[in-house]
Amino acid sequence: MSAHIHPSILSADFVNFERDFATISTADSIHVDVMDGHFVPNLTFGLPMVRRMQEITKLPLDIHLMIDRADEQALPYAELGVDSVTFHAEASEDIIKLARRIRAAGAKAGVAVKPGTPLDEVLGSLNEFDMVLVMTVEPGFGGQSLIESTLEKVAQAAKEITRIGSAVRLQVDGGIDLTNIERAAAHGADTFVAGSAVFSAVDRAQRIQELRLLANRGRHQAE
Ligand code: DX5
Ligand code: ZN
Repeated sequence: MSAHIHPSILSADFVNFERDFATISTADSIHVDVMDGHFVPNLTFGLPMVRRMQEITKLPLDIHLMIDRADEQALPYAELGVDSVTFHAEASEDIIKLARRIRAAGAKAGVAVKPGTPLDEVLGSLNEFDMVLVMTVEPGFGGQSLIESTLEKVAQAAKEITRIGSAVRLQVDGGIDLTNIERAAAHGADTFVAGSAVFSAVDRAQRIQELRLLANRGRHQAE
């Protein structure tokens, strides 16, 4: 499974998304951080903005919902026709039921866990998901440093995914950059969110390519 790079537009210019999307056209998907100011202490944008984003890019949208009451709030995003909708396990009463509803609406279903949340519940039902997101920082803000201990959870998830032969993708998000993406990949991640590492680059296409090469090198070690 080759590495996918998903730039996070949390580090983009919020009043110039169309221009900034054009600079990351070589990405595999665009990572869209929806924050509600409750689940995380930061507020970004909601459904109307995501709907508009769909219209200005051909790239798949990878929606990362950092919002409370996911069981009620997540489905409208899936119904927009985005590629994937990832909700937080901490914000859902029934992660399997919600994943099934997201899939029934036509989107891939992802489940995310914060650094302090154990993976047991998620690993017990891997076939219900298309993606597992292991947060490598506390969600809420871009530009933080990767928390090294979270890579052990990545390895734990990768081991179980391999054991059951699941096709679920294993995403990491937070603090991913040129210095650590190869290591994250070697721990078993295959899908990499990078916000500041991509948007701080003068040549973003080149940065995406550098990240992809390093990630694929790390994946080689993981296999
Ligand atoms: C953090 C968000 C991330 C963030 C990543 O809560 O979920 O997607 O934008 O940004 P960097 O790569 O700068 O840590
Ligand atoms: Zn994110």
